[in-house]
Amino acid sequence: MKRKQLTAILCVIILIIAAVTVVSATNIIGGKKTDENGKPDTGENDTPNESDTPNENDTPNESDTPDESNKPDTNNTPDENDKPDTNENDTSDGSGKPNDGGSGYKSFSLTSGMSAAQAYEYLDSFLSSKYSILINKQHKVGSDYAPDNLTVPAGCDYQMEQTAAKALTNMLAAARADGYSDLILYSGYRTYASQKNKFETRTQRYLNEGYSQAQAEEKAGEYIAPPGSSEHHTGLAADVCSSKIVSKFGYLDDSFDSTDEYKWLKEHCAEYGFIMRYRKDAEDITGFLYEPWHYRYIGVDHAKACTELSLTYEEYYEMLEKMRDEAKAEAGL
Ligand code: DAL
Ligand code: ZN
Repeated sequence: MKRKQLTAILCVIILIIAAVTVVSATNIIGGKKTDENGKPDTGENDTPNESDTPNENDTPNESDTPDESNKPDTNNTPDENDKPDTNENDTSDGSGKPNDGGSGYKSFSLTSGMSAAQAYEYLDSFLSSKYSILINKQHKVGSDYAPDNLTVPAGCDYQMEQTAAKALTNMLAAARADGYSDLILYSGYRTYASQKNKFETRTQRYLNEGYSQAQAEEKAGEYIAPPGSSEHHTGLAADVCSSKIVSKFGYLDDSFDSTDEYKWLKEHCAEYGFIMRYRKDAEDITGFLYEPWHYRYIGVDHAKACTELSLTYEEYYEMLEKMRDEAKAEAGL
C-alpha cells in the first residue's frame, strides 16, 4: 500500500515536471509564440528562404530603428513657423512632395493654406511668367526668341536678364563676404546664333574623329544644348565656376564639385533664386550630362521649394502644372 502510494506520488511529480518543461520550451505568452527578444513571431522565420539566408539574424530588425518620436521637432524651423496648419488637408506622404491623390497644392509648401482659386492664381502666375520657362531638348524656343532687359551683373563679363543678373551679383557678393572670391561667371546669355555656332563646332570635332553626322550631333548634344534648347537663350542661366579650376583645366570641369566654392554655391544658391540644373543623378531626365557649374534662376521661393523636394526642374515644373490644373478644376474656373 505504502509502496503504491509512493509510486503514485512519483508519477504526479514526473508529470508536473514534464508539463513545466513543455510550457517553458514553447514560451507561450498570451497565446503568441515569441522570439528571444519577446517580439511576436510573425512566422517569417519559418519560411525556408529566411532560415537558409546567412547573416539574416545580423540585420537590424524594425524595432531597432528609431521611431518617429525620436526625430527632432521641425515645427521650430524658421520656414515652418509662418505656415498655416494644414494637417486636416494634408495629402502628402511625409516626404514634403505632394502625392498623386489630388489637391496636391494643399500639401505643397508654397500653396498650403490657400483656397483652390488662390492656389490656381499663384501657380498660374508663376507658370505664365518668364522666370518659369522650361527649356530642354523637348521644349525648344525658336530662333526669333530673345529675352528683354539684359544687363551685365556687377564685375562680370556676360549679360543676363536683369532680375537674374541682380540675384547673381548678390550671390557672388555673399560668396566673397564668406571668403569665396574665386567664383566667376563664365557664361550668361547666349543668342540662338552663338549657341548654334558652339553646337556645330563641337559636332565638327566628333565628325573629325570619324563619327557619323547623327552620332556626332548626339555626342555634342550631351554637353552643348542644340540651338533652341539652351537655358542660356533666356538670360536666366549662369555658368559659375572657380577660376582655379578653369585655369587648371582650361575649361569648366566636373572637379569643380570638390571645391569649397562649389559647396558654398550648393548650400546657398537657392537663397538667391538659383537651382543647380544638371544633376549627376538625373542625366536621363534633364537630357544633359552633369554640370556642377550651370545654375538657373527661377526666383527664391521656387528655388527653395524645388531644392527641398530634390526635384529636377523638369519634375518640379510638371508638378506645378498638375497642381495648377487640379486647383483650377477644384475652384470651378
Ligand atoms: N551646357 C548647357 C546644356 C547648354 O549648352 O545650355
Ligand atoms: Zn550653362
